[in-house]
Amino acid sequence: MCSFTVHPVVLQLFLLLFLASPATACTEQEKRNLLQFIAGLSRDGGIATSWHNSGTDCCEWEGISCNGDGAVTGVSLESKGLEGPISPFLANLTSLLRVNLSHNSFSGGLPAELVFSGSIIVLDVSFSRLKGPLPEFPSLVTTDRPLQVLNISSNQFSSQFPSARWKVMNSLIALNASNNSFTGNIPPSLCLGSPYLALLDLCYNQLSGDIPNTLGNCSKLKVLKAGNNNLSGILPVDTFRATSLEYLSFPNNGLHGELDGAHIVKLSNLATLDLGGNHFSGKIPQSIGLLKRLEELHLGSNDMSGELPSTLGNCTNLKIIDLKFNNFSGDLGKVNFAALQNLKSLDLLRNNLGGIIPESIYSCSNLTALRQSENHFHGEISSRIGNLKHLSFLSISRNSFTNITKALHALKSCRNISALVIGTNFMNEAMPQDETIDGFQNLQLLTMDWCSLTGRIPIWLSKLTNLKILQLHSNRLTGTMPSWINSLNYLFSLDVSNNSLTGTIPITLMEMPMLKSDNAAIYLDPNLVDLPIFYVYPSFQYRMGSDWPKVLKLGKNKLTGTIPQEIGHLKALLCLDLSFNNFYGEIPQSICNLTNLQILDLSNNHLTGEIPAAFETLHFLSEFNMSNNDLGGPIPTTGQLSTFPTSSFDGNPKLCGSLLIRGCSSAEEAPKYIISAREYSMKVIFAISFGLFFGVGVLYDQLVLFRYFG
Ligand SMILES: *[C@@H]1O[C@H](CO)[C@@H](O)[C@H](O)[C@H]1NC(C)=O
Ligand SMILES: *[C@@H]1O[C@H](CO)[C@@H](O)[C@H](O)[C@H]1NC(C)=O
Ligand SMILES: *[C@@H]1O[C@H](CO)[C@@H](O)[C@H](O)[C@H]1NC(C)=O
Ligand SMILES: *[C@@H]1O[C@H](CO)[C@@H](O)[C@H](O)[C@H]1NC(C)=O
Ligand SMILES: *[C@@H]1O[C@H](CO)[C@@H](O)[C@H](O)[C@H]1NC(C)=O
Ligand SMILES: *[C@@H]1O[C@H](CO)[C@@H](O)[C@H](O)[C@H]1NC(C)=O
Ligand SMILES: *[C@@H]1O[C@H](CO)[C@@H](O)[C@H](O)[C@H]1NC(C)=O
Ligand SMILES: *[C@@H]1O[C@H](CO)[C@@H](O)[C@H](O)[C@H]1NC(C)=O
Ligand SMILES: *[C@@H]1O[C@H](CO)[C@@H](O)[C@H](O)[C@H]1NC(C)=O
Ligand SMILES: *[C@@H]1O[C@H](CO)[C@@H](O)[C@H](O)[C@H]1NC(C)=O
Ligand SMILES: *[C@@H]1O[C@H](CO)[C@@H](O)[C@H](O)[C@H]1NC(C)=O
Ligand SMILES: *[C@@H]1O[C@H](CO)[C@@H](O)[C@H](O)[C@H]1NC(C)=O
Repeated sequence: MCSFTVHPVVLQLFLLLFLASPATACTEQEKRNLLQFIAGLSRDGGIATSWHNSGTDCCEWEGISCNGDGAVTGVSLESKGLEGPISPFLANLTSLLRVNLSHNSFSGGLPAELVFSGSIIVLDVSFSRLKGPLPEFPSLVTTDRPLQVLNISSNQFSSQFPSARWKVMNSLIALNASNNSFTGNIPPSLCLGSPYLALLDLCYNQLSGDIPNTLGNCSKLKVLKAGNNNLSGILPVDTFRATSLEYLSFPNNGLHGELDGAHIVKLSNLATLDLGGNHFSGKIPQSIGLLKRLEELHLGSNDMSGELPSTLGNCTNLKIIDLKFNNFSGDLGKVNFAALQNLKSLDLLRNNLGGIIPESIYSCSNLTALRQSENHFHGEISSRIGNLKHLSFLSISRNSFTNITKALHALKSCRNISALVIGTNFMNEAMPQDETIDGFQNLQLLTMDWCSLTGRIPIWLSKLTNLKILQLHSNRLTGTMPSWINSLNYLFSLDVSNNSLTGTIPITLMEMPMLKSDNAAIYLDPNLVDLPIFYVYPSFQYRMGSDWPKVLKLGKNKLTGTIPQEIGHLKALLCLDLSFNNFYGEIPQSICNLTNLQILDLSNNHLTGEIPAAFETLHFLSEFNMSNNDLGGPIPTTGQLSTFPTSSFDGNPKLCGSLLIRGCSSAEEAPKYIISAREYSMKVIFAISFGLFFGVGVLYDQLVLFRYFG
């Protein structure tokens, strides 16, 4: 038996192939329009050549697609390095449906013929350096336009956001105009003219005025983003008529008013609510618990207050809760977090919240970031915190937590912890010295400052081999700077100032790998950078980029000895603070090799000798303090040093120079020589004779110092 049948699938495939290969080659007219478009550019990124080499059928050309009649339906020339104006000839392709010109470098504006074309349904010109206003609506066009997707985002469009033309755009589904410089209001006609609008992104512009209450007429609207503008007024209750909304986002505007519980529940599809950075006030309504799909709640940086609604624990899909910088109060324990198994980030920074850390938080096993700092929390950190295996960022600073020993033993079980900010707690407790504190393999940032902790710098710190930032300042630590410090191979920021450390600077401190290497790029865990922990270094705003400042702060201790010559090895340093110690001897010339320095503070020590003239090579210095030492000779007058006030040099009676009242004698202005150790005694003799002129006190200091060098 032998029969021959064509399987229906094969037949379909055959038909598909047949249809896909153009039955007719493109028309001369279509070809001419395409070539005119390309010819209008100043750079075509090799497209003209590519087309030329592909034969005469324009349907075969790179980036071009046609229908069965040989009419061009698609132009996809994204990221082709196109430059120059977009020629309106493109709009002469009367069957054109899809145009993608994103990620090019055009000049000039967007031709009206494209926006109001009678055929185009998708127009993407995002990231293409287009400028000027959106084209005016051609008065000839009166019928409805077919455009469904318009992406003009990330260009340099400016002037008023058009308001009139939306009436004919009644097929529009997605409009992304974000990241431009549009001014004016959100046009009230938008949702009236475009009933199918599902996506509206206007964020990162300069829009102002009120939010029109017509947005609620967009019954299909799913994504509404208008953050980072200058919108004011309230969030109109009519907005909540757009019940399809899944993403409602107006952060960083000037909005105010209260969240209306009766209205917000209408948005039962809401997954993201972002109203951060406004002036919203009042409470979070109890009804928020009915938003079962809510995943992200951003209400940070507003003026909200009251207790957190217990129903928050009913939003079981919540991943992110950001309530920082508000005035929420009451006992956090009223919220049961146990059901929030998807919670990844809880940020309560700077509120008025109190109580202990609710036990229920410890069952949010996916929690990666928890910030409760600057509230009124108290109690101990439960050992159950070790259940949070994904916890990577914990900040509880500026509360009243107790028992640092228990806290550290509990936290060492959080294997993923990379940032631990626990300062201004544990007042007057003893720094745990217990060597069984280990773990913390991933810890990159540790701040235990302002705790008045007593005891030595503990040896367990030496096991934190991934540590990059260590802040122990403003405690009551005693003992010496540990010599193991250079075993922290990644440490690039060390602040132990305002303690009672004694002894000399260990030479190993001058061997810190990260501080020695100028070009060692510092990469913190990206998760860490996500959370704004930059407040740690508010003063380093410039010349930083993504780089973190390399800092060594030993100020306000009882350290003594000379500043080692080897300080010149720490070439990466941006900030060196040795102030308020008992350092003596000369300022090593090698400090002048620290050419990245922005802050140099050697004040309030017993340093002698001259200020090295080579300091003038420290071009980035913005803060410089040599005051209250025993420095002498002329102040270098060139370079950066001439820009600092006299207060930078005060309290060094033997200094002279144009900045100070006391001018230099000709002897003092004699060419400077670099003083070696051998020449020291000679220098002291000079200083003593100098001192005879300026008082017994100075002479006494010089004699005392002389003993150290004897
Ligand atoms: C093609 O476009 C240009 C510029 O928009 C216009 O002047 C011209 O009339 C159009 N030609 C045809 C045949 O449509
Ligand atoms: C246009 O091309 C870019 C880059 O390939 C792509 O990301 C984008 O989704 C395209 N636009 C549309 C509307 O498909
Ligand atoms: C422009 O927006 C449209 C609609 O949202 C989207 O499909 C397209 O991918 C976007 N283009 C780029 C380059 O992101
Ligand atoms: C709008 O476009 C920008 C890029 O310009 C993109 O980052 C953003 O996600 C888009 N908006 C939406 C809602 O897709
Ligand atoms: C905003 O647009 C600029 C180009 O105009 C682009 O470099 C930048 O990445 C865009 N930002 C976002 C968030 O898309
Ligand atoms: C917009 O919504 C309001 C309130 O529901 C309604 O009165 C009005 O007719 C709507 N406008 C249009 C054009 O649908
Ligand atoms: C924002 O709008 C207010 C009025 O609502 C105006 O005073 C202010 O100058 C605007 N700011 C910017 C940056 O446009
Ligand atoms: C919502 O939360 C409240 C208070 O936590 C609780 O009593 C109630 O049972 C929860 N409702 C639902 C539906 O989960
Ligand atoms: C914060 O709320 C408390 C009441 O809980 C109130 O006493 C205080 O004045 C509020 N602070 C601010 C800055 O609004
Ligand atoms: C934790 O998050 C992961 C993805 O990051 C997810 O697969 C898992 O279901 C979450 N765990 C719980 C308990 O929800
Ligand atoms: C701290 O906690 C540990 C372990 O729970 C306990 O043994 C110790 O007594 C506590 N210390 C203080 C000062 O409460
Ligand atoms: C500064 O560094 C250079 C090269 O690294 C070195 O040769 C020179 O001796 C250093 N100068 C001082 C004063 O340490």
